[in-house]
Amino acid sequence: MANQLDMDHCFDFVMKLTIESAKIIRNAIQGGKCIETKAGEWDLVTQYDKSVEEILISGLIKEFPTHKFIGEETVSKTNILPNLTDEPTWIIDPIDGTTNFVHSFPHTCISIALAVNRQLEIGIVYNPVIEQMFTARRGCGAYLNGNPIKSSDISDLRQSLVCIEASYARIEEIRDEVMGRIEAFVSIAHGIRTLGSAALTLCYIAMGAADVYHTDNLSPWDVAAGVLIIREAGGTVIDTSGDKFNIMNPKVLAMGNKKLAPELIKLIRNADLKTQRKRINKNQSTINT
Ligand code: IPD
Ligand code: CA
Ligand code: CA
Ligand code: CA
Repeated sequence: MANQLDMDHCFDFVMKLTIESAKIIRNAIQGGKCIETKAGEWDLVTQYDKSVEEILISGLIKEFPTHKFIGEETVSKTNILPNLTDEPTWIIDPIDGTTNFVHSFPHTCISIALAVNRQLEIGIVYNPVIEQMFTARRGCGAYLNGNPIKSSDISDLRQSLVCIEASYARIEEIRDEVMGRIEAFVSIAHGIRTLGSAALTLCYIAMGAADVYHTDNLSPWDVAAGVLIIREAGGTVIDTSGDKFNIMNPKVLAMGNKKLAPELIKLIRNADLKTQRKRINKNQSTINT
């Protein structure tokens, strides 16, 4: 299927459409927004998330009428995540980093990927506020504003900058695990960052600005483009368990180079064991009192 598709055309078309649609984000980031919530008070969506997705999908449908789409705001209407098939499928996050966008924090982007035969072929992550355009095509390398990028070759966690999604600690059921993993990274790395856009964070790993990114709680549109960009930049993305990464159920352990993988998997496993032990001890002492 990929061979029958003109990938040059797909890439050029989606680039132009992305740049055009992103003007909405650039023009709106400083102003007032209509803000609604989805899963909770912290899960924000604006009229711009919806309009950018509509513009992207309608533009792509016109050009590629047989293609499929998985877009965050479309999926949100039914809460049903479609299966990824062999058909050419555009995986779209119209605004990744909506909370940043709402707060005029200039770390927000459009993220679009094209998968064919369930394989990522094109990835585009564009932050129009600070004009960072990350692109990749399978087998052709990764680029920032047209210049090739390469992920870091740090192989010692003690010399790493680690990005982790801290906000999930707000969810009571997973709070202890998230905090336990953060504590483990804080104790070993040079530093910890939470950037508020999964797609851009993956691109920062791709360009060597950070070395590791970890979170278990993302969706396909958060990661599809960034995963291809990291891989094309020389980095690795695996499942947190160490298994093969699943784009439709992303538990992300991304790194500048695969030498870090065994140490990372071990660190997370040990952090979880420590959390479980603490929980057992706490339950035990509650029973005993
Ligand atoms: C969010 C961002 C954030 C991550 C959340 C995502 P959105 O995407 O990528 O960094 O922690 O899980 O939902 O909602 O801004 O598109
Ligand atoms: Ca969202
Ligand atoms: Ca997102
Ligand atoms: Ca989004």
